[in-house]
Amino acid sequence: MKHLLSAADLSRAEAVHVLDAAAEMAATQSREIKKLPTLRGRTVVNLFFEDSTRTRISFETAAKRLSADVINFSAKGSSVSKGESLKDTALTLQAMGADAVVVRHQASGAPHLLAHAGWLDAAVVNAGDGTHEHPTQALLDAFTLRRHLAGDPSLGATSGLGADLDGLHVAVVGDVLHSRVARSNVALLTTLGAHVTLVAPPTLVPVGVERWPCEVSYDLDATLADGKPDAVMMLRVQRERMSSAGGGFFPSPLEYSRAYGLDGRRLATLPEHTIVMHPGPMNRGLEISAEAADSPRAVIVEQVANGVAVRMAVLYLLLAGQSDAPTTARPQEAHA
Ligand code: CP
Repeated sequence: MKHLLSAADLSRAEAVHVLDAAAEMAATQSREIKKLPTLRGRTVVNLFFEDSTRTRISFETAAKRLSADVINFSAKGSSVSKGESLKDTALTLQAMGADAVVVRHQASGAPHLLAHAGWLDAAVVNAGDGTHEHPTQALLDAFTLRRHLAGDPSLGATSGLGADLDGLHVAVVGDVLHSRVARSNVALLTTLGAHVTLVAPPTLVPVGVERWPCEVSYDLDATLADGKPDAVMMLRVQRERMSSAGGGFFPSPLEYSRAYGLDGRRLATLPEHTIVMHPGPMNRGLEISAEAADSPRAVIVEQVANGVAVRMAVLYLLLAGQSDAPTTARPQEAHA
């Protein structure tokens, strides 16, 4: 694997391999000294043309925990505002010796262009492109699902490594139309054997969804009652990608919330083991109530923590090879 551009590019074996590497990375993060020397001398550039809190910080943390040099590039405050093209930005990064470029861009396909235009030798990681894909989010979601529902050794279970998500039912609820998280999750979770139901108002379901490997429902209460999902993944209502405040996609925030929001009443109808997920950032009071977001079954903060281990695994596998387990960095090799 030279780049990570799309969750749909991963086979089941490749996805499980990344999750297993992430589990080993996560184990190193409970040590007193968390830093590994694995990517010493390598340069990772975070190239962010669109806002981010979790993904940017998570990739920065992951790269630093692997001892890489990290350059953070934000389009705001850069020469992009003077009209510099993606090509010239890429050529600049190439001249500076970037080994990996983690890119978030408002244009779907920008990471693919960076990877294949011949401007860069670096590995390219898609950190979210337009409404297309966000593969490391799907990987950290799969990692979180596996830890909670498929038995991970770090939780005392015996069969985590090598496990997929076979038989799990995941309901992905909300603004599917604008969601790169939904696209990547449908691809990855179904590759790993899960059954996915998308739940959204008809106006927020993409054209062509019937060709996606999942079910579609317009009725959240029916999906929760009949489908008994093992996980409910709430999506952010992406008002910035809508033409105005509500954008005409739903009558009002209150009506959206009543029909598609996860609140205390709906939470109480879920099976006892069901976990609540959200990629963040959340619109509290719109797609998820504070009661649901802060409930003991919400794993939203844990998703963020798991993101560091997953991104360590991705950077490790792209830059340091596929064969060695990450914990081959022995404790005495770790350094502050
Ligand atoms: N989940 C996610 O991509 O969050 P950020 O936009 O904060 O990176």
